[in-house]
Amino acid sequence: MTVNETFEQLVLEADLNSPAPEVEPARQAWFLARAREIVQRRSQAAGRKLTCRVETFGCQMNARDSEKIIGILRSAGFEEAASEDADFLVYNTCTVRDNADQRVFGRLGRAGHLKKNREGMKIAVCGCMVQEKTNVEKIQKSYRFVDLIFGTHNLYRFPEYLSACLESEGMVIEIWDRADRIVEALPTARKYPFKSGTNITFGCNNFCSYCIVPYVRGRERSRQPVEILRECERLAADGVVEIMLLGQNVNSYGKDLDISCTFADLLTEVCKIEGIRRVRFMTPHPKDLSDDVIRAVRDNEKIARHIHLPLQSGSDRILKRMNRRYTKEQYIDLALKIRREIPDVSITTDIIVGFPGENDDDIDDTIDVVRRVGFDNAFTFIYSKRAGTPAAKMPDQVPEAEKNRMFNRVLAAVQETAHGRADRLTGRIMEALAEEVNVKDSRYITARLSNNMLVHVPGDPSMIGKMLQVRLDECRGFYFFGTVVGE
Ligand code: SAH
Ligand code: SF4
Ligand code: F3S
Repeated sequence: MTVNETFEQLVLEADLNSPAPEVEPARQAWFLARAREIVQRRSQAAGRKLTCRVETFGCQMNARDSEKIIGILRSAGFEEAASEDADFLVYNTCTVRDNADQRVFGRLGRAGHLKKNREGMKIAVCGCMVQEKTNVEKIQKSYRFVDLIFGTHNLYRFPEYLSACLESEGMVIEIWDRADRIVEALPTARKYPFKSGTNITFGCNNFCSYCIVPYVRGRERSRQPVEILRECERLAADGVVEIMLLGQNVNSYGKDLDISCTFADLLTEVCKIEGIRRVRFMTPHPKDLSDDVIRAVRDNEKIARHIHLPLQSGSDRILKRMNRRYTKEQYIDLALKIRREIPDVSITTDIIVGFPGENDDDIDDTIDVVRRVGFDNAFTFIYSKRAGTPAAKMPDQVPEAEKNRMFNRVLAAVQETAHGRADRLTGRIMEALAEEVNVKDSRYITARLSNNMLVHVPGDPSMIGKMLQVRLDECRGFYFFGTVVGE
């Protein structure tokens, strides 16, 4: 767990006999101290440690938020449980597509049953889904056993909600329409000791016409470079070797700050931190991926040879209606420039199929881009109508069966091009970060190459977190089997 010493000091100094301070982060420190007292009392009464569990849906941004939530719960005295059968259960939700919503409701239903058999159990729902009123109303009506609902903009107040929820019966609900500030310094618990995400921006200003993110995450806000660098330094001192810089559109980093710091500047600065061996970023928007970022990646060995460049569609007509603000040819030019400038780079993408008005001619264009760029991997999604977005109101929604048929066409093209891409690296020796014991065969360790591909090597858990030199012996489509030849 990364403990921010200044914040921990505030928690230790909190005077619970006086009212909670109004200023942040002292206020949250006060509530954390109070939550600690309650948790301690209950643990003593129960004769065991209280447990917590955070279930995460959605993107890397949500995964990072979950680390903050777990950090606070652990700091309050909870121990992490291996399943959802825990004393404090949190669902950190995503609403980017309808099936994400449905998954959460399904799981929530099951959690209600768990609660019946566990006295004092508390269930919280947070994240993007509850930024939408209709979802909150549905929880209030049909999932009345939920104890706490809080949104994306006020996550930093979790200590306050936690203590309110532990002290009261009934549902605590606090959702804000927009963020009032960025509060630094709260504790986080990393999922992996050796790698971490770091937020550089929150929110999004792009309003792609299909996308709910700007509505549930608000306008774009950049963190101060000094805060980001300080966090990365702290992470490095704590054993982190790989950092992923996170934002919905990392290229626009810094545009809202009063000092001049571009995304390329930030990348270069993060690379200078001792102990950091690899830097990734997610996600650049093709409309503003500038040459200075390409140069920064090219010239800086530490930056991963991987660019995730969401295409969404290859049809100019659809791109325009999606409000993506680039054309098919502009995208292809950019992708090919990246390939030219950065040897061995892998380019991956996201594609949406079945956007309103889309037909087989548009799909032909998308497939043409897939073939000309030769993506190393692509996530293909069936368009999902999100209430409140401009695309939801477009009259020419595509029938489900059509969407599925077009989806299969794109998927086949993606699989065909991606399949051969990895093979070109067979026989090479490359650096790979050992991440975990192979899930299927514990005699192997799974490691990640700079280009984001996986390689499985014979080994043991002592290797986890180390940067290894690996020979890529055998390509199995999207991944490799290899041998460690050095550290
Ligand atoms: N900010 C990132 C992506 C965020 S959402 C970007 O601009 O690329 C992740 C992916 O979900 C998107 O790239 C898109 O492909 C997909 N997505 C977003 N809204 C969707 C919708 N309504 N239906 C289907 N897929 C969607
Ligand atoms: Fe959504 Fe577009 Fe913003 Fe990405 S850039 S989060 S797809 S609105
Ligand atoms: Fe989902 Fe929210 Fe991320 S909607 S994709 S978790 S920003």
